[in-house]
Amino acid sequence: MQKLWDQVDEYFARALSPDDDALTHALTASAAAGLPAIAVTPNQGKLLAMLVRVRGAKRILEIGTLGGYSTIWMARALPKDGKLVTIEISEKHADVARRNLERAKVADRVEIVVAPALDALADMKKQRAEPFEFVFIDADKANIDRYFRASLELSARGAVIVVDNVVREGAVVDAKSKDANVQGVRRLTEFLTITPRATGTAIQTVGTKGYDGFIIATVG
Ligand code: DHB
Ligand code: MG
Repeated sequence: MQKLWDQVDEYFARALSPDDDALTHALTASAAAGLPAIAVTPNQGKLLAMLVRVRGAKRILEIGTLGGYSTIWMARALPKDGKLVTIEISEKHADVARRNLERAKVADRVEIVVAPALDALADMKKQRAEPFEFVFIDADKANIDRYFRASLELSARGAVIVVDNVVREGAVVDAKSKDANVQGVRRLTEFLTITPRATGTAIQTVGTKGYDGFIIATVG
């Protein structure tokens, strides 16, 4: 089915979510620098941008910058006085992202924090950072539940939290999985069943990145 998923993804992307020069360049420059080709797809980038707009978010938190492709999509959906804080553990990835954001002319709205995400999030909490209205979690999956909990503490009431890669070709249903990524997602799902502070759902997706999915949660 992958070939058909590719065709359908490309069909809709060309029509509805076309990359412009800056987005295309962000992917090309990321590949040239040796970054893994795991950025969100154009259709997913557009979805993130639309959710930012629907929410009317002025402050966005992203965990996992990579080359800044999703960052560009979301930053463009911000109002002029909006702000996006994106956390990246790799200095090299952050350098590539910084150049991509400059080229896309959104660098003035984006702050890249180069640090392990749990440290950066703890710092932001300590410094009483202004709450975020939209969060995109797309870093290592083994810590996905910890990133979600930390994001919740930094979120405004009514915030939307999107978590990437929660299906992983269906591996998520294996309770006994020895894959730390799967166990991270399962702990997040379990957390959502007990926390009164957020509610969520999961959407399975197919496309050029295979079979995967998102958790989308709202903060109550
Ligand atoms: C991987 C990470 C991602 O964020 C993604 O969207 C796809 C794959 C990975 O680490 O394999
Ligand atoms: Mg991802």
